[in-house]
Amino acid sequence: MKPPPQPGDFLKPILPGKGNTDYERYLRTDELLSLQKPAAERLHPDEHTFQIVHQSSELLLRGAHNELERARLYIIEGDLQNSARLMRRALQFLDYPIDLLHVLDTLTPYDYHKIRAGLGHGSGLQSPGFLSMLHIAPQLGEAFFAQVKKADVTLEELYRRNAEFFGLHEVAELLVVFDQKLQAFRFHHLKLAQRIIGNNVIGTGGNPVDILRQRQEHFFYKELWDVRNQITQKVAAESDTTETTGHGNE
Ligand code: HEM
Repeated sequence: MKPPPQPGDFLKPILPGKGNTDYERYLRTDELLSLQKPAAERLHPDEHTFQIVHQSSELLLRGAHNELERARLYIIEGDLQNSARLMRRALQFLDYPIDLLHVLDTLTPYDYHKIRAGLGHGSGLQSPGFLSMLHIAPQLGEAFFAQVKKADVTLEELYRRNAEFFGLHEVAELLVVFDQKLQAFRFHHLKLAQRIIGNNVIGTGGNPVDILRQRQEHFFYKELWDVRNQITQKVAAESDTTETTGHGNE
């Protein structure tokens, strides 16, 4: 019979790979933590933070994309509960790249320009993580609107009869949250760019900072925002007042 495991046995790695522990081997921390410039190569000590913020954001956006793609396939299958579950997870992932932008708010302009000198033509417009968001957003919308069509309801009916169309309504609301979070990312990123390099200059990708402001106003699911206007107008028309401010009749 095999002897029972001793406490020290659990400290010994059993997985293949580099590292002294199974934690390091499984997570490949050796490789992960060698992806930042060593201190001697940094153009400024803050470059470490700059790289970590960007690299972490790429990983988190990749996590969000993975769950959104799974959610999209569930919508196509008509499994709205599982789709909503994964969308919620993806949306939680998205909170962190937004928060991380504020870490870079602590960079001061002259220090950033030292880091910027080493970025070449590198630009956030080339971010694989953010590009994947721009790619999946309309695809998710397409899958959702196909289900709305199948249910044979208008968006206004979907919102009015939300208890009846619970799953579809839930996905609609999560798409609105997704849109809000992309806008929040763009808003906080715009403020970051404005405070560090200014609002009237050209970025490393050759674009004026003002394109960030224009992009920040974009809605991915315009129909889901428009239906709010429709609802407010309908409620106002049904009441005895012509007021359409959304504050009721008081
Ligand atoms: C010091 C910090 C930063 C500055 C000064 C900055 C500046 C800029 C500028 C000027 C642009 C316009 C395009 C161009 O480069 O010509 C841009 C685009 C972009 N940057 Fe940054 N950025 C910073 C940090 C970040 C971080 C941490 C991320 C996270 C991934 C990021 C993601 C993006 C994205 C996704 C775009 C395209 C925006 C869009 O499609 O609306 N940036 N950035």
